[in-house]
Amino acid sequence: MEVKPFTIRDLQKKKEKNEPVVGITSYNYSIARIADKVGVDWILVGDSVGNCEMGYATTIPVTMEDMLVFTKGVVSGAKRALVIGDMPFLSFQTSPPKAVENAGKFMRLGVSGVKVEGIRCIENIKAIINAGIPVMGHIGLNPQYYFQMGSYMVSGRKKLEWKSIVEAATILEDIGAFSIILEAMVPELAKKIHDKVSIPVYGIGAGRDVDGQILIINDVLGLDFGFKPKFAKQYVDLEKIIYEALSKYKKEVIKGIYPDIEHTY
Ligand code: KIV
Repeated sequence: MEVKPFTIRDLQKKKEKNEPVVGITSYNYSIARIADKVGVDWILVGDSVGNCEMGYATTIPVTMEDMLVFTKGVVSGAKRALVIGDMPFLSFQTSPPKAVENAGKFMRLGVSGVKVEGIRCIENIKAIINAGIPVMGHIGLNPQYYFQMGSYMVSGRKKLEWKSIVEAATILEDIGAFSIILEAMVPELAKKIHDKVSIPVYGIGAGRDVDGQILIINDVLGLDFGFKPKFAKQYVDLEKIIYEALSKYKKEVIKGIYPDIEHTY
């Protein structure tokens, strides 16, 4: 049966009908395939791949070249889900032409849009949109600016911060972003942004008063290997399951149990 791909228009329609949108990150074909089968609406090839799959302490070392390899696998696995490519550190910040060129590299692989962190270099973000590439904003905690922030902070704990964060959301809406991610934010501020802008806002650690949720796949599966933010809900302990399976395999090879007749030509 032909699958109808989920589109940016469908995201807006879901918002109008008050239907929560479900997002997840993925960095490879096998997980994207399963997420797609489940009916997850959209998949982010996040630069969190740096933490989750490359073992980096931050997302800052992740390059365009890295992102494009992981994106290829996800696009192959997602038949219905909308795939968004995450613009890594310095892929859009240096100049408008560079930003458009790099966003275009994602688009050529078959994603439906790109995500950018923050509203720094806004002219470059505008250039991507003006080139006809759908852009998702990302405000609140922006891990690409970790060294300027000094730590991973929750946004909006101080009321003084609210004005600039709400303004960032309206700027993104005004320049034509199709949606915004709100990361690690007090729920009252997320609600204020949700009520203020007409484009969909999706939360990751921003409470319930948003148009949908996104989580990092490794957090959901129990493959986070250490740091676990408060909002991250683990639905299965895959590390334990994989550990047990590999231990069993190792034991069977050592004892000569594997391969048996069933697994031999
Ligand atoms: O890279 C990523 O996975 C993200 C999410 C935190 C939204 O940007």
